[in-house]
Amino acid sequence: MGLRVVNIGLSPNNTWKDTLVAAGQIFLPWNWLSWKKGQARIELEKKFSDWLGVEKSYAVGSGREGLYLILKSLNLEAGDEIILQGFTCMVVVNSIVWAGLKPVFVDMDDNYNLDAEKLREKIGPRTKAVIVQHTFGISANLEKVLKICREKNLLLIEDCAHAMGTEYQGRKVGTFGDLSFFSLGRSKVISCVSGGIILVNNKKYQESLAKEVEACSEISTGKILQYLYHPLVCSKAKFLYGVQIGKLTMVVAQKLRLINFEVTPAEKAGKMVKPFPTLLPNALAKVALVQFSLLEKFNARRIAIAEKYFQKLANVEGLKLPQKSAGSIWLRFPILVENPGKLMAAAKNEGVILGDWYTVPVAPPGIDKEKSFYQDGSCSNAEKICKQIVNLPTHQAVTDKDLEKIIKICSK
Ligand SMILES: Cc1ncc(COP(=O)(O)O)c(C=O)c1O
Repeated sequence: MGLRVVNIGLSPNNTWKDTLVAAGQIFLPWNWLSWKKGQARIELEKKFSDWLGVEKSYAVGSGREGLYLILKSLNLEAGDEIILQGFTCMVVVNSIVWAGLKPVFVDMDDNYNLDAEKLREKIGPRTKAVIVQHTFGISANLEKVLKICREKNLLLIEDCAHAMGTEYQGRKVGTFGDLSFFSLGRSKVISCVSGGIILVNNKKYQESLAKEVEACSEISTGKILQYLYHPLVCSKAKFLYGVQIGKLTMVVAQKLRLINFEVTPAEKAGKMVKPFPTLLPNALAKVALVQFSLLEKFNARRIAIAEKYFQKLANVEGLKLPQKSAGSIWLRFPILVENPGKLMAAAKNEGVILGDWYTVPVAPPGIDKEKSFYQDGSCSNAEKICKQIVNLPTHQAVTDKDLEKIIKICSK
């Protein structure tokens, strides 16, 4: 491994600008007073709403908290069912369960999204809503899913955690569902370490969602500090990864609680860590504003990189590319191979850390299976794909030279 490492998961969106903003929040005392509340959160909500063309959006503590708020705003009865796809994250399941509802899994199609053909089979008398995911920034088959939702009187929730900027039939995702949420998490389209944005398109739920948001807590000062440290630690760790110190830096920082995990051990076990749900702290909204100004640039680069993968990897034997899908922003570029472990190890040897979303139908590995409500064998396509998937990076820090190297590794 050389000095320079391309890492798909280590704060891929981090730029010197947001490191500078985060450092300013920590080290300039006059900023401390507005860490929790302030103008930046309001500005972010306004900018995001204008960009998406919606009336109002709310900046919250994370995408998972946003989904929880959305589900609470529906005023459903305990035990009502929410449909989602296999090949998702445990934090999505947690939000459903913590809102008193039951997750029901539908298999995914070969486009990494909920299989609309299999949706009808899972709809029962207690089904109230369907969550579509737009995995890797590839839009779900909204036309088919929406048709079924209308016919069966079900609400549609869009999980746009991977898909800020993705379009479906020329219109941005997030504007199709009755309610939608986005993520500003560390590995998502844009990042402020932890954050989310939610919105409501169905006027019937405008008031109830506003009430849920109003009742949210603010996160603690200690937690804000932890999140502000994240870009500082990661920008150092990134440079030191190649000399094996980077990983150590991350482990030590986690042990010292300077930074935390994307999915915490408690969340893996299905346990809520309070305060939950929370609002996006103003200090992180400042970082999010920097990142939001880079959104179009980041996505243009992702699309250009994906195009290169399509061109250069099309004829590689034993490697299956995703379907070309207009409007995708390719948060990550998924490929299928017979032996993902071998490819990932070979790439690591050459200084490229590839991604493993997702190797189990409810990720990450190590979750409490019982708490996930997932039944083995219930999503056979997802299970098959989990054994073959590798994600190639598309983020802004991948240079043309890195891209050549990744293509060469995958071609061998
Ligand atoms: C598909 C999907 N939905 C929702 C979420 C939740 O987003 P956040 O990390 O902002 O809570 C994640 C990520 O963890 C995700 O991968």
